[in-house]
Amino acid sequence: MVLVPDESRRNTCGERSFWLGVIRFLQAALSTDKALHYADGKMADQKPIEFSQATLKEYREVLGRYPTRQAALLPTLWMAQREFGWISEEVEDYVARLMELPAAHVRAVVSFYTMFYRKPMGRWHLEVCANLPCRLRGAEQILDCLSRKLGIEPGETTADGKFSLTEVECLASCGTAPMLQLNHERFYENLTPESVTNLVDELARRVS
Ligand code: FES
Repeated sequence: MVLVPDESRRNTCGERSFWLGVIRFLQAALSTDKALHYADGKMADQKPIEFSQATLKEYREVLGRYPTRQAALLPTLWMAQREFGWISEEVEDYVARLMELPAAHVRAVVSFYTMFYRKPMGRWHLEVCANLPCRLRGAEQILDCLSRKLGIEPGETTADGKFSLTEVECLASCGTAPMLQLNHERFYENLTPESVTNLVDELARRVS
């Protein structure tokens, strides 16, 4: 896979360039046979689609807490995302076989919940709430600032695989709006353009 840093867009407010689109198209085409994902905080070649022994043990424990296999699907998919980095069709099929559920049912659940990634995500995933209270407190400005800083639009990942940016619905922290969630783990609240700029700089340093 070819990784081309989008330096031309960093810290600028210009429009998306034609050449950036061409580069991304070529990257997508070249990466189809060797997808990358970001499990355990690292970019890695795609592993075989099979739970590790530790995750299989965890899966069996989870299964024992639910009355049916179907009821245990969400936590199992969560484990799959942690293990493989994202939920590809191959992962859906693996989970379906493992749980003896119809593949179509697994696919329907994955596509319903936005917390499941259906494509490889960046090392750092910034989810900015754009619901009404956050929007009234400047979420749009925060999103715009992050877009310009990273050189991507919401829904995209930087060419170097470090950052993904997503616009999401309410994350239940309206009292400290505007806010964002990092990697489903940590909230950053009362955001300002300065604070998100500093956050991106700090995260970029951590993976360089
Ligand atoms: S509206 Fe943003 S956290 Fe609720």
